Amino acid sequence: MKLKNDWHKDFFNNTFYNPASPAAVEKAPSEARFVLKQLKLKKGAALLDLCCGPGRHAVEFAKKGLNVTGYDFSEEYLNEAAARAKKRKVTIRLTRGDMRALKYKNEFDAVVNLFTSFGYFQRFSDDMKVLKGLFRALKPGGRLLIDIIHGDFVRAHFLPRNWAKMPGGGFHLENTYYHKNRKGVFNTWTILKPGKKPVSRSFFNRLYNKKNISAALKNAGLTPLKFWGNFRGQPLSTQKNRLIVLAVKKPKKTSR
Ligand SMILES: C[S@@+](CC[C@H](N)C(=O)[O-])C[C@H]1O[C@@H](n2cnc3c(N)ncnc32)[C@H](O)[C@@H]1O
Repeated sequence: MKLKNDWHKDFFNNTFYNPASPAAVEKAPSEARFVLKQLKLKKGAALLDLCCGPGRHAVEFAKKGLNVTGYDFSEEYLNEAAARAKKRKVTIRLTRGDMRALKYKNEFDAVVNLFTSFGYFQRFSDDMKVLKGLFRALKPGGRLLIDIIHGDFVRAHFLPRNWAKMPGGGFHLENTYYHKNRKGVFNTWTILKPGKKPVSRSFFNRLYNKKNISAALKNAGLTPLKFWGNFRGQPLSTQKNRLIVLAVKKPKKTSR
């Protein structure tokens, strides 16, 4: 399948998809609680929400007294994040940019990347650019928590075709193709709404499991600490569709 390298520009806009569905917004407070329990941050600590989208977690983190930066490519989602922050009476620094081009150096006590916002690039070297940028962005001792779809779950429950009714009417169709060489899935979503032309967009998602995400994190200088299969803290398994990993940027040992 041919897919443009910058497919994210057409995919992540309100005319096609918005990750802050009512169901996703409802889950955000409990997900944020789990994340904060693992990050062990003090009030006022600097937290980067990489690929914050419409800010559903970022506002929860800011409500807990953290100094939150939300970073995303989509202008529309960032505008929505700003409106959400205003409504919840919290301040968030919002920055637009590509996740492969992070400029931060030793700035954050922690970074989060949630709801499968990692693994989008067809070249593995681009995924590594993201992780290396996060390594630089973290202060020594800083923690990183990534939440992505669990590759072993996708392989074990592979569905080349699927469909669902959409809450507001219409159907959401999914076609999935596993690309062996790229070690990921090409996915096409088609939205069918009554009286409207079908709209399709495709994306790529590299499949990660405990072994290859650990190797990628280590390659970027980070040390994986813990893994979970959901936001209730249950163990990683092929029966659970999430892979949540906590890693740390270990401080350099000083020799006397
Ligand atoms: C599945 S959404 C998740 C959003 C948010 N974390 C949440 O849980 O609601 C993925 C996000 O990644 C962002 N994104 C995709 N490609 C990007 C890129 N190359 N650089 C920065 N952000 C990107 C999208 O705009 C979108 O907001």
